[in-house]
Amino acid sequence: MAEEKKLFRVTIDNVQVDVEPGTTILMAARKIGAGVTPPAMCFYSKLKGSGGKCRTCLVEVAAGSTADPRPMPKLVASCRTTVMDGMVVKNYSSERVMEARAGVVEFLLLNHPLDCPICDQAGECHLQDLSYEHGKAGTRYEFRRRTFTPEDIGPYIQLHMTRCILCYRCTYVADQLTDNRVHGILDRGDHAEISTYISKAIDNDFSGNMIDVCPVGALTDRTFRFKNRVWFTKPVDAHRDCPTCCGKVTMWNRGDEVLRVTARKDHWGEGQSYDSQPGWICNTCRFDKKKTSDWIIEGPRMISRQSVISAGHYQGNVGLNKPTEIFEAVHDGRHPKLMMDIHSVSEVNRPNIDLSLIEGPAHSTDFNSNKD
Ligand code: SF4
Ligand code: FES
Repeated sequence: MAEEKKLFRVTIDNVQVDVEPGTTILMAARKIGAGVTPPAMCFYSKLKGSGGKCRTCLVEVAAGSTADPRPMPKLVASCRTTVMDGMVVKNYSSERVMEARAGVVEFLLLNHPLDCPICDQAGECHLQDLSYEHGKAGTRYEFRRRTFTPEDIGPYIQLHMTRCILCYRCTYVADQLTDNRVHGILDRGDHAEISTYISKAIDNDFSGNMIDVCPVGALTDRTFRFKNRVWFTKPVDAHRDCPTCCGKVTMWNRGDEVLRVTARKDHWGEGQSYDSQPGWICNTCRFDKKKTSDWIIEGPRMISRQSVISAGHYQGNVGLNKPTEIFEAVHDGRHPKLMMDIHSVSEVNRPNIDLSLIEGPAHSTDFNSNKD
């Protein structure tokens, strides 16, 4: 008879959970739920070796184990610390942790610009959420901030090194998903930056996944940049028979236009897994299949109620149910195109121009009336 596996009992913020030996505190917390789980900016469960870089996941270990119940003297990175039987962990219930996390956020924001109003990641940025939850209103930093010129790395991705928090996730993607890693973090300390050699990895079919794993707006999709705010788009789950990847994606639509295609994210902001395999998607699905007819639509993507994206979400359990046009009814039958579709009824925007088909961000010249 197979020997029964001994599980370790851990208590996190007064909630008990049994997990297998070798599980990290962070993964044990995820097993309990979002209410006790520390935020994670650099750890990504589908990327081997990730974690241990950003310190946002610090927790207090109030008792090490049943055998040795002494507390750990310092706060520990929960993504890198494995549980012991009888361990007691404090996360949101610890003042020390809250204070330390506020310090980490302040540190992450030393050089990170607060350019959310013009950043494509706004609305789905982990650092933005973290700052709202744990950040301080002011900064004590008085020195010149480091800045970099945005760099196009290949036809599909733009690197804004100024926004990078050096979480290393993208380098792990290049390392583990592409054939050979040709980029990394160069230099150390204040000089550290993602090497421009990243552009050499861009040919690989899976390089677009760097965009998905980047927790901030440092790596953005050039085909989507400045096309729309994410909370105006309608995410729907869709799939296609792809010979290269799992073909399961989220399409971010506005009206009938597909503005962006990404992998499906789970509750923790990580790409969903299928049959225990990470659901990375290929560049063909991500960048080349931008028509609804390319996809079989499954239905609306479930978005957390806490997310700003859910504000304009299509409701419905089966299929894609667009909301009833209440505005039309109260506006004397005038169709509220500004709200629901990409084209306004004004004379400024031209209904024959599809934003998704314009190369790069749209400019006034794209809407120049002499053009068509
Ligand atoms: S570019 Fe993004 S994913 Fe890469 S290290 Fe910087 S923050 Fe992390
Ligand atoms: S998520 Fe643990 S150190 Fe970054």
